[in-house]
Amino acid sequence: MKILVWGAGGNGQTLRKYIQDYSDDEFLGYIDNNASVKAWPPSKMKEIEYDLLVVSNQYFEDRRAIKDQLLGLSVDMDKVIFLVENNELRTKVFSAINRYDEESDRRVVWLASFAEYVKTINMNGNVAECGVNRGEFAYYINKYFSDRKLYLFDTFEGFSEKDLEAERNFSDDAFNKSVFNTKNCFLSTNIDIVKNRMLYIQQCEFHVGYFPDSAVNVVDKFCFVNLDTDLYAPILAGLEFFYPQMVPGGVILVHDYFNPDLPGVKRAINDYEDKNGIILHKFPIADYLSLAIVK
Ligand SMILES: C[S@@+](CC[C@H](N)C(=O)[O-])C[C@H]1O[C@@H](n2cnc3c(N)ncnc32)[C@H](O)[C@@H]1O
Repeated sequence: MKILVWGAGGNGQTLRKYIQDYSDDEFLGYIDNNASVKAWPPSKMKEIEYDLLVVSNQYFEDRRAIKDQLLGLSVDMDKVIFLVENNELRTKVFSAINRYDEESDRRVVWLASFAEYVKTINMNGNVAECGVNRGEFAYYINKYFSDRKLYLFDTFEGFSEKDLEAERNFSDDAFNKSVFNTKNCFLSTNIDIVKNRMLYIQQCEFHVGYFPDSAVNVVDKFCFVNLDTDLYAPILAGLEFFYPQMVPGGVILVHDYFNPDLPGVKRAINDYEDKNGIILHKFPIADYLSLAIVK
């Protein structure tokens, strides 16, 4: 099949890789309204012979506008599908492609090295990720800690309205104007995408739902936890839940600590320290985003 991809952003590029590396179909090129990216303008579509147009855009409002635009161009809508609304294709694409490269992604390289160290010194404890989304980083936790149980916590339905509302109330413009200020974030996932990706699925225990409610029955010892829920409330809840359960020398990696669009992450760590009257042992891992907390 000859496929055109609408949207040359992150999802579009993931889709192109999937078509080229994992399917027998042919990627013809991108269509995009943004003239600065390598793509044809929508008006060009009538000159191209294609079998399918896949719209890769993530956000509902964008998809609605694109649909109107396609109808305006008299495009045959039988030949159009929307990636994030098509469960079968979405699962195939996002299970196959991992955005994080094993050789060059600094967080992944750090994780491999930390896992090696844990083995070398016989540190005990299981592992967890809170904020899994499509399981792209969880894939590496599962790979490098193949002998440990991996707890995976996510709503698999994006942020909760309650957490978002709290964030808006105390955040400055950085968050309020950012791409994170919406329930639409992180909806391009489902539990099958994560399950399909895992190398040692027998080690995985899924806790689907709102964290920390989804963790009520979890009592264990941990040597590594990735906290990647972006917002103040679940980051603070993650520290409250996991820090007491870390083994000595174990690490909680807090993603987005250095992300200016997510000020709630830093605030949660500060408030955890203040509430408990402690200064956590912390260091950056040189990926420009994450902060490691060592027990
Ligand atoms: C940035 S994504 C995680 C990315 C993932 N760790 C990776 O590296 O590929 C944030 C995830 O946190 C989840 N999340 C945020 N708040 C949550 C909460 N209170 N309970 C459960 N999941 C939550 C969202 O559903 C979303 O999938």
